Amino acid sequence: MATQDTNKRNPVLRATNLVKRFGGLTAVNDVSFEIYPGEVIGLVGDNGAGKSTLIKMVSGVYRPDEGHIYLGEQEITVASPMEARSLGIETIYQDLALCENLDATVNIFLGREPTKRFLGLFKQVDRGLMLNEAQTVLNRLDIKIPNLRRPIRQMSGGQRQAVAIARAVYWNARLVIMDEPTAALGVPEQRKVHELVRTLRSENVPVIVISHNMQDVFAVADRIIVMRRGQKVADVPASTVTGDELVALMVGAGEA
Ligand SMILES: Nc1ncnc2c1ncn2[C@@H]1O[C@H](COP(=O)(O)OP(=O)(O)O)[C@@H](O)[C@H]1O
Ligand SMILES: [Mg+2]
Repeated sequence: MATQDTNKRNPVLRATNLVKRFGGLTAVNDVSFEIYPGEVIGLVGDNGAGKSTLIKMVSGVYRPDEGHIYLGEQEITVASPMEARSLGIETIYQDLALCENLDATVNIFLGREPTKRFLGLFKQVDRGLMLNEAQTVLNRLDIKIPNLRRPIRQMSGGQRQAVAIARAVYWNARLVIMDEPTAALGVPEQRKVHELVRTLRSENVPVIVISHNMQDVFAVADRIIVMRRGQKVADVPASTVTGDELVALMVGAGEA
């Protein structure tokens, strides 16, 4: 937090005037925001407010109808989730894009497996290297997964989140986006996810956390963005608002 002011001039990501329409519905209406190194943004809003659509434009799921996205100084167009990932934008969805029948190690490397030459000729996936590297990054994040060879399917929701976050850290993500990360988790696992978000922050990786759980938001967010009916209606330091005030902003209390 102390370094935030010096970082203020150089956002990691900047989105300007984003618009996304689905037929006659404007799901995201002229939204601009910035995120700075090591900053955690809580993105809140009622169901249907446009939160997921907003971040899907950043993560390459949707192309914006209007507006611009800049990563560092450079304007980017994100044509696909793969491209977002190759730019360093890692998105962790509620339903997690992890492969259920594969183990944690494979999931960390998914689509980017290291290879070694076999008989000096054929390329072969280097399982040993993958296992070592996976263990190293999991240790660094203080994530305990008893048996890395177990399929993801057999892991708890919290462990799966942890594997997804380990993947983001291993590949040096420039920005991590989490869409409702704790929705399906019990309280101890929610705490672990909060811890991991703070770890990302301490590694200077900014995080956008979408949540409709106010406790979640206040547990991790430095700044809170509120959306209502496709528009950004607030963008404030977390320390300056209360849960009640956020809810009022979300539902538009006090308006005609
Ligand atoms: N693929 C889509 N096709 C048509 N309408 C959509 C699509 N995705 C979202 N919407 C609509 O856009 C609005 C915003 O949805 P969404 O971004 O999912 O909101 P939130 O994540 O805040 O709940 C909603 O009215 C939703 O029904
Ligand atoms: Mg959503």
